Amino acid sequence: MPIKNAVVTGGARGIGRAICRRLSREGISVVVVDIDESAANMVAGEINGKAYVLDVGDESALAGLVHDVEKDTGPIDLFISNAGVGYGDGEEGAASKDGGLHAIDDRWEACWRVNVMAHVYAARYLVPRMIARGHGYLVNVASAAGLLSQIGDAAYSATKHAAVAFAESLAITHGEQGIDVSVVCPQAVATRMIGIEDDSESMDGGFGGNDVDGILSAEEVAECIFDGIREKRFLILPHSQVATYVQRKASDHDRWISGMQRFRKRLSG
Ligand SMILES: NC(=O)c1ccc[n+]([C@@H]2O[C@H](COP(=O)([O-])OP(=O)(O)OC[C@H]3O[C@@H](n4cnc5c(N)ncnc54)[C@H](O)[C@@H]3O)[C@@H](O)[C@H]2O)c1
Repeated sequence: MPIKNAVVTGGARGIGRAICRRLSREGISVVVVDIDESAANMVAGEINGKAYVLDVGDESALAGLVHDVEKDTGPIDLFISNAGVGYGDGEEGAASKDGGLHAIDDRWEACWRVNVMAHVYAARYLVPRMIARGHGYLVNVASAAGLLSQIGDAAYSATKHAAVAFAESLAITHGEQGIDVSVVCPQAVATRMIGIEDDSESMDGGFGGNDVDGILSAEEVAECIFDGIREKRFLILPHSQVATYVQRKASDHDRWISGMQRFRKRLSG
């Protein structure tokens, strides 16, 4: 089934913006969803798409989005849940109660809403419509942290694991009903999320001190996602080395933890 209409959350910046541009180049009509109004409008204007400004962690907003887009533009063939947040641990590490700019429980809450529940809400309102049509594609952007772990961010790691598990459940439950599902698990990508404020030049690499284990540009990741969708691959790994790390973890979990402990020590100097 050809993809005519797509929705991309977190489409105003970084990976989401690169996906919007990539899909648009294929002639796909793209709805840009973001909480940042001016940036969303800018991307939508550039690709001749539509912008919707909302918080993806708000269930009624997500329900309204699906309803309005399908009414205005037609059936959503592809929904990419890409918006995500991460804030880091407090001073006491993974078990922190206090510290930093945001209260720890607020960070956990935001990570659950945006990194997990937004995917659940999108599926909740789209899957029944897609089943009725006999087809539909959901792509959930998680992270390599959802397969391995993000040193220094317990809430991000836990919620990205949940996002991977939710995508697996969707694929297992609804695959035979015509629903295709992919989950995307990148390592570092040159965007604001990892402190690269201006990612507009991120096409050509050269990301200074951020060069950790093969940082990719948002455009490279968008290309991998597009290839994965074309091949209907469940697990999309823009950084191929992640597959090796996952195998090592699965073959000896204790050894993997020891290795991560040493890595953490190295990172903290
Ligand atoms: N950058 C990385 O190194 C990296 C690595 C692995 C996975 N990821 C994941 O990729 C996805 C995209 O990240 P990015 O690096 O492009 O980040 P980014 O910060 O550059 O862009 C995220 C976009 O999501 C939007 N957003 C955030 N919260 C929202 C909400 N509640 N409702 C609607 N929009 C919201 C932001 O306004 C922004 O436009 C995220 O899910 C992230 O966890 C990123």
